[in-house]
Amino acid sequence: MADLELNHISKAFNGNYALSDVTLSCNRGEVHALLGENGAGKSTLLKVLAGAYHPDEGEIKVFGKTAVIKNPTDAMRYGIGCVYQELSFIPDLSVAENIFIGRIPKTKFGNFDYKKLRRMTLELFEKYDVDEIDPDAKAGMISLSQKQIMEILKILSKDPEIVILDEATSALAENRVQWLLRLARKLADAGKIVIFISHRMAEIKDGCDRITILRNGTYAGTLPVDENLDMDEVISMMLGRKMSSYFPEIEDCTREEVALELKNVTYGRALRGVNLKLHKGEVLGIGGLAGQGQAELLKALYGVYPTEGEILLNGKPIRIKSPKDAIQKGIGLVPEERGIQGLFLNLGIDFNISIPSIEKLTSGLLVSRRKEAELVEKYMNVLAVKAAGPQALARELSGGNQQKIVMAKILSCEPELLLMHDITRGVDVGTKKEMFGLVRTLAKEGKPVLFFSTDVEELVNVCDRVIVMRDGKVAASLKLKTLTKENIIGASIGADGKGGDTEDEKA
Ligand SMILES: Nc1ncnc2c1ncn2[C@@H]1O[C@H](COP(=O)(O)OP(=O)(O)OP(=O)(O)O)[C@@H](O)[C@H]1O
Ligand SMILES: [Mg+2]
Repeated sequence: MADLELNHISKAFNGNYALSDVTLSCNRGEVHALLGENGAGKSTLLKVLAGAYHPDEGEIKVFGKTAVIKNPTDAMRYGIGCVYQELSFIPDLSVAENIFIGRIPKTKFGNFDYKKLRRMTLELFEKYDVDEIDPDAKAGMISLSQKQIMEILKILSKDPEIVILDEATSALAENRVQWLLRLARKLADAGKIVIFISHRMAEIKDGCDRITILRNGTYAGTLPVDENLDMDEVISMMLGRKMSSYFPEIEDCTREEVALELKNVTYGRALRGVNLKLHKGEVLGIGGLAGQGQAELLKALYGVYPTEGEILLNGKPIRIKSPKDAIQKGIGLVPEERGIQGLFLNLGIDFNISIPSIEKLTSGLLVSRRKEAELVEKYMNVLAVKAAGPQALARELSGGNQQKIVMAKILSCEPELLLMHDITRGVDVGTKKEMFGLVRTLAKEGKPVLFFSTDVEELVNVCDRVIVMRDGKVAASLKLKTLTKENIIGASIGADGKGGDTEDEKA
C-alpha cells in the first residue's frame, strides 16, 4: 500500500465529468508529477485531496488510513498543504499578514503582535532562503514571482507532510524555479510527499521521480522518471496522439515598413533609453534576465506607464496615455497576470471574448448574435479551448483554458500591434503548438508582434529576431545565425562584452 492513495475518484460539474475513476498513489520521499493537457483534471484531483472539492465517488487513504476530508481544515489535519494554481492572497494585507493569516500572534493584551509577526516572517524567509520580499509590503504591490513565493511559504509555514504544488513554477522568476525544484527535493528527502504539476517538461525531467498522467479526466498511467523515460511517449499519453515538435516552421515575413519605432524611451530606472524598430510581419522576441525592463517596456507601450522619448507607430509619433488609449490606437497586450487583470470570471466565455469587439459586432443598436457566435467559435477553435460550451463561466475553466480566453479576447479585437507577455505560461504542450502557430500566422498577415518570453527556447524557435534587454536598455539584437540560445544567454549576462546600449537595427 502506498503512503498516499486516491482511489477511483470521480467528480462531475454540471453533469460533465472532470474526473472519472482516477487513481493516484504516492510515497514518502518522492516528488510525484501530475501531467495532463489543460482541462485534464489535475487541479480538480488535487482540490479533492485538499478538501476544496468533494468527490462524487472514490476514497482517499493517507498513511494507511481512510481519510475523511470534507474541507481544507480537515486536509490540513491530515498534513496536506496545497499551493493552488490561482493565487489567493489578499492584496491590501501585508506579505506577513497573508502568510500567517488566521494565525497572527497576539500580545497579552489581545492585540495583534506585529513585531512578533514580522520576526516570524523573517525567520521563515531565512529558513527558505528568501530575501527579495519585504514582509511589510502590501501583497498586491509585489511582483508576480514574489507573490508566488509568498503563497508557497504560506503553505510551508504550516509544515505539511504532503505538499501540493499546482503550477507553482509557472509564475516564478527563472532562478526561483530552480530554487523550488531544489526545495521540492529537500522536502522529499525529509520524508515528505511532494505532488508537482507543471507543463514544462524540463522541470518534470529534472525534478521529479515519477509521473502520473491524466487524459481527459481519466487515468492514463504512471511512469518512473529515469534514463529510459521517453518524453515523446509521455506527450502521446497526455494528448492521445503523437506530436513531433511544438515549435513552428519559421518563414520570414518581415516587411520593410517599420510598424513601431522607439527612440530613447525612458521610464524611471526601469527603461533607460530603449531604441528599437519593429517591422510589419516581424515577430520580435524580448529576452534577458528577469527584471531588466522587459515587462515595463510592454506596459509602457500599453499606456500603463508614462514614458519620455519618442514612440512612433507606423511612422507617426504617438503618446499612449492609458490602456484604453492603447486599445484605441490598435495596440493589444496579453498581460502577465491573466486571471485578475484579464477576465470577467463570473461571466461566460462568449461574453469575455466578444466584449472588447462589441462595437464591431454592432450595427445600429443591435449586436449581431450570429457574428458574435462566429467570432467566439473561431477563437475557441484556434486556441483549442476545452469547456462545456461557449456559455461556460470563465471561473469554471481550468487555469490554462482561462489563459486562452484572455488571449482570445485580445486577438478578437484584431489589434495592429501585439504585445505578448509569456503567452504560454500554464499552457499544455499541445496548445503551445497552436499558440506558436497562431503567432506565426499573425506575422504572415503582416502584424508586428513583440514577443516577451522568459523561456529562451521559445525565443529562439518562434521569433524572427530577438532583442536582449539589460539594465533597461537593448543590449543585443540577434537574428538568423546569431539567434541562438547561447547568444541570448551570453548577451543577458553581458558576456558579449557590449555595454548594453546597442542601437537596434534590422539585422
Ligand atoms: N468549479 C468548476 N465548475 C465547472 N467546471 C469545472 C470547475 N472546475 C473545473 N471544472 C472543469 O473540470 C475540468 C478539469 O479542470 P482542471 O482545472 O482540473 O484542469 P487542469 O488539468 O488543472 O488544467 P490546467 O492545466 O489548465 O490547469 C475542466 O473541463 C474544467 O472546465
Ligand atoms: Mg490546473
